[in-house]
Amino acid sequence: MSDALLELSDIRVTFRSRRSHIPVRAVDGVSLKVGRGEIVGLVGESGSGKSTLARVVVGLCETVDGEANFDGAPLTVRDRPPELRRRIQMVFQDPYSSLDPRMTVRQQLAEVLRVHRVVPRELVGSTCEDLLTQVHLPGQLLPARPRQMSGGQRQRVAIARALAPRPELLVADEPVSALDVSVQAGIVRLFAELRRKLGLSILFIAHDLAVVRHLCDRVAVMYMGRLLEEGATVDVFENARHPYTQTLLQAIPTLQPADFSVPGTAGTEPPRLSRLPSGCRFRDRCKYAQQLCEESEPALAELSDAGAGHRSACHFSATLPLARPPVEPARS
Ligand SMILES: Nc1ncnc2c1ncn2[C@@H]1O[C@H](COP(=O)(O)OP(=O)(O)O)[C@@H](O)[C@H]1O
Ligand code: SF4
Ligand SMILES: [Mg+2]
Repeated sequence: MSDALLELSDIRVTFRSRRSHIPVRAVDGVSLKVGRGEIVGLVGESGSGKSTLARVVVGLCETVDGEANFDGAPLTVRDRPPELRRRIQMVFQDPYSSLDPRMTVRQQLAEVLRVHRVVPRELVGSTCEDLLTQVHLPGQLLPARPRQMSGGQRQRVAIARALAPRPELLVADEPVSALDVSVQAGIVRLFAELRRKLGLSILFIAHDLAVVRHLCDRVAVMYMGRLLEEGATVDVFENARHPYTQTLLQAIPTLQPADFSVPGTAGTEPPRLSRLPSGCRFRDRCKYAQQLCEESEPALAELSDAGAGHRSACHFSATLPLARPPVEPARS
């Protein structure tokens, strides 16, 4: 049996394109593992398929091909049993829309505790307070409604609600992207603390590589439905072997949450899913592209001269110049 808690194999999700109505693969053959107590970062530009993959894991995506296992058993997408639902929880990007505006913090937490029958009825009140303590919020916020709180407080409540069913895996889909830069670091530290204290596994989705660097054990880089590079965080940051990852790293000092353009690529706009180039899907934007890149799609393959588990999907990963990581901007 695999020691991974979550194991995805060759996951594919097909939608009809909103513009042309032709089928497009938002997730196109992704294999990824998350170990027990491990934090794995999933990064990539907007539209690369990160949220779709997250929805597969939490059971919100209906039509999925491939194999998914959780704790050694199949992770069914449809008709997922309640106990399996309880064990995997999600934190969304925008806490304002993920919380119910009409309900107080206490009501939102109590509802989850009751639905999942986490504690006996008489302990629901004190457990709500404990959950707030776990996310470093005062108990005085229990009667508050979402609009009465700051963005950072709302996200902490959303995290408390995700923790309420005592999950083993948290899927956090860009949980700091909608927040003020000044509160992002505190939320990132909270995820690190939750892993340390509760032994949680976390699939942490971000477009900000700098966030991932300080939190994650491993990083997977996604582009147009596929993983292009994957490895231990230190290996990906200090020895990036895929041209796409290299350009993302060069972009770090200029990253703005709302503007994720990638300098150093032939064109800053990613292609449309409905019009992917032949061969390597990154080739329209790759300064190293050659004839072979047009003819065949490179597989995500283990690098023989890199850290264990370091994989790259580029025909020339063994020979391309290595990008030095940029000097990291100061983060609070
Ligand atoms: N329900 C849907 N119907 C049609 N296309 C979708 C749907 N959900 C996502 N997509 C498309 O799938 C691609 C990946 O989207 P998404 O997973 O949200 O990417 P990311 O989270 O990386 O920004 C995008 O091109 C998006 O338009
Ligand atoms: S396979 Fe070719 S086009 Fe794709 S990333 Fe490598 S060098 Fe660039
Ligand atoms: Mg998304």
